[in-house]
Amino acid sequence: MPSHSELFSARVPRYTSYPTAPHFHAGVGGETVRGWLADLPRPAKLSLYLHIPFCDTLCWFCGCHTKVVNHYTPLASYLDFLFTEIGNIGALVGGHPVTHMHWGGGSPTMLSPADVKKLKTALAEHFEIAPGAEFAVEIDPRGLKDEMVAALAEAGLNRASIGVQDFDETVQKAINRIQPFDETRRVVNALRAAGIRAINIDLIYGLPHQTLANVKRTIELSLSMAPQRFAVFGYAHVPHFKKHMQLIDEKVLPDAEARLEQFELAHSLLSAAGYVPIGLDHFALPDDDLAVAQKAGRLARNFQGYTPDDAPALIGLGASAISALPQGYAQNKTEVPDYRKAVQAGELAVARGIVLTDDDRLRRAIIERLMCDLEADLDRLGAPFGKSFADFRPEIETLKPLIAEGYVAVDRSRLVVPPSARAAVRLVAAAFDVYLAKSKAVHAVAV
Ligand SMILES: C[S@@+](CC[C@H](N)C(=O)[O-])C[C@H]1O[C@@H](n2cnc3c(N)ncnc32)[C@H](O)[C@@H]1O
Ligand code: SF4
Repeated sequence: MPSHSELFSARVPRYTSYPTAPHFHAGVGGETVRGWLADLPRPAKLSLYLHIPFCDTLCWFCGCHTKVVNHYTPLASYLDFLFTEIGNIGALVGGHPVTHMHWGGGSPTMLSPADVKKLKTALAEHFEIAPGAEFAVEIDPRGLKDEMVAALAEAGLNRASIGVQDFDETVQKAINRIQPFDETRRVVNALRAAGIRAINIDLIYGLPHQTLANVKRTIELSLSMAPQRFAVFGYAHVPHFKKHMQLIDEKVLPDAEARLEQFELAHSLLSAAGYVPIGLDHFALPDDDLAVAQKAGRLARNFQGYTPDDAPALIGLGASAISALPQGYAQNKTEVPDYRKAVQAGELAVARGIVLTDDDRLRRAIIERLMCDLEADLDRLGAPFGKSFADFRPEIETLKPLIAEGYVAVDRSRLVVPPSARAAVRLVAAAFDVYLAKSKAVHAVAV
């Protein structure tokens, strides 16, 4: 029988997609995706994701596709090509209503206020942005100026996602991200004063030097800003992929048990403060769209995490951005020069992707329901594919150690992860991932 910490040290994906990104391949290119876009049923709703792969300093824990730059020229040149891509993709699917838009990175707040407005204007010109559409931007509050808050408000931002991670100075030094609480609070107040009321705060546990006391203090300080949502991510330490993570001293990283305790503390503090746990790692006030969607059984998971977004097509714009279309997934070229060359040539900047098979779709549905609802009914999800619980004997066999530990229960055709075992849900989901066993990709630990 594996020990508790062995179970939680298993390396499994976060399942923001299935199949996961390491299984995308070069067999899917721009022409394939052009066909996928042309075949979208009309007027299918669209969700847009825009990637800005630049930051002014490097946080050593960062797992995102980004590059540190110390002047604006690379951003200005990147924007030129992003505008071209917006025009190219808009010409193919611009008639579809856009109900969700998310700018992420990197740090979209590296853009100048004037360019924030230009970018929003370009999007509104080439796409049909639906009235009341959600418009979210990832915000690094460090040094954020009032002019940027004003530009975001003018552009119509209605959900701000603020990176915090941890407020302890020792932890902040160990991750190269100095971010005083007062500065963060100033930005939250300024956003609210500008009419941007929906605030998310991103926290991380499992960081170097982090203790239960740090987690508690960070959560208390964050609660004093009364955000609508929290994301509480487990630090994904993958130094072989992200060389800068080697700057983090592994000797001061919390072990699997400590990570689990930190996660559980965050969970109990946020629940006690009235936040509803959403899936694996989000928390939302009961009247927030995420909590409402979860209650109604229509919570979804995409590359940005949990979402109430029900658009059948997510289009990623910018270097490394991933699109999720009914036919499959496609990722843009990761390196900015490669991305630029493709856009300049009038091509779709797709580097790799995967065409979904029926088996992928069924497993994706099971994994998504587990990650969103902590349960999955194999008979119900299997029915459209002519499958039922009985077809998943090997997976149930794989789950036996987790069943024995009480991390998942089988109730007729349903798999149910009890709320107290929420932290184990990725391990349960992994039993349905047929690519994982064949995979050479190394993922971060499960909790
Ligand atoms: C693109 S960043 C946020 C935007 C902005 N650049 C900032 O840092 O404030 C998105 C979020 O991903 C999370 N994140 C980044 N690297 C991570 C890692 N290695 N493990 C877990 N979470 C990570 C952080 O919580 C971060 O706020
Ligand atoms: S965490 Fe945010 S600010 Fe820090 S390097 Fe990553 S993307 Fe940039």
